[in-house]
Amino acid sequence: MQQVQVVLGVGGGIAAYKSPDLVRKFIARGRDVTVVLTDAGSKFVTTHTLSAVSGNQVRNDLWDEQAERAMGHIELARWANLLVIAPGTADLLARLAHGHANDLLSTVYLATEAPVVIAPAMNQAMWRHKANQRNIGRLREDGVEFVGPEFGDQACGDVGPGRMSEPESIVEFCESLLDQSQCMKGLNVVVTAGPTREALDPVRFVSNYSSGRQGFAVARAAKQAGANVTLISGPVALDAAPGIDRIDVQTASEMKNAVLSVISTCDVFFSVAAVADYRPVSRKTQKIKKHLECSGKLVLELEETDDILTCVNEMSDRPFVVGFAAETQKTIEYGREKLQRKSLDAIVINDVSDSTIGFESTENEVTILSPQGRCTLHKQSKDKIAQQIVTNIASLRTCQPSSKANPS
Ligand code: CTP
Repeated sequence: MQQVQVVLGVGGGIAAYKSPDLVRKFIARGRDVTVVLTDAGSKFVTTHTLSAVSGNQVRNDLWDEQAERAMGHIELARWANLLVIAPGTADLLARLAHGHANDLLSTVYLATEAPVVIAPAMNQAMWRHKANQRNIGRLREDGVEFVGPEFGDQACGDVGPGRMSEPESIVEFCESLLDQSQCMKGLNVVVTAGPTREALDPVRFVSNYSSGRQGFAVARAAKQAGANVTLISGPVALDAAPGIDRIDVQTASEMKNAVLSVISTCDVFFSVAAVADYRPVSRKTQKIKKHLECSGKLVLELEETDDILTCVNEMSDRPFVVGFAAETQKTIEYGREKLQRKSLDAIVINDVSDSTIGFESTENEVTILSPQGRCTLHKQSKDKIAQQIVTNIASLRTCQPSSKANPS
């Protein structure tokens, strides 16, 4: 099994003296640790100590010629399964909250898709300051997890909140997050994504605006969560992450056949694709000629496609089924209706009338509805939304008392 890789960012606070111990505790849990030391951090703890305890070269240079294609931030961002920042100083938090990219740690933070944990450490008045609290709020909204700070005596003589949590607590917190982040370990997951195209003639088709981004992000997140993922994609201009089995299709009928070919071993089915509901009754073998055939008007006859979700739901040994619905009005009401009509275990709905979270956007805001209740995931990148969808679905699945949907 691949070792979990942790990037530890060390900021410039007195609590940096605990960093070597933190590294050792991660290593004792079998983790591979690379330290990114900020310039301020290097005033408190040395590169020699950190490279000796981690067994890896300590990184601090954004312009490192030795890094892969001289892009250390991208290399490290991809390498990390977890990014831990300890100590997280007020300045570091402010820079991360505002998306600065002026040193190696801040660029790794922006470029990584791994979960991020920050252990803040600062003077109690700085911790309480509104500006700092605003930054923490922003970072939480961006999906960052916080451990600590603790209340107690501070190096400056003050007493209050702001002490960095002890290395043991930080490691415990991270380990439970890693357990959660492997919430689909060993499961077979099928994801459909993108639009389908229903041909009218050899040069024209009926389709929709789906970009496939959310579906690809769900496939990636399920893979990161330890699942074996098959991604069945309509025509999109996206690359699937390494290790994902991809089946490309064009039409709703091809998508249905592809789903049915893999569904018998599937544990969780994410039906993210915007499958065409209708297709032309007949596909002309030659291009439709405007002047010869249409005389100012073209009337198309369309027929309903099969509903893939319904086909899957009719299976006796069906997987845990998650539908997706893009609505332009009455989002929750229509979502509830679809949850019931399609007998889904859960449905993820979003409002595509808001162009900032629509088909072409890189961000999304969704609500998950299930018989257990409802949960809204606020506006953030489609990748972060996908990670939270996967975590939520994994936990809903564990409480569902039905056939294959129940892991026990
Ligand atoms: N879906 C499907 N097969 C279809 C159409 C839709 O499996 N032929 C799935 C989608 O992948 C999605 C869910 O059904 O997970 C909801 O799709 P949507 O188009 O919103 O639902 P419809 O039942 O078509 O409802 P309506 O068009 O009335 O909104």
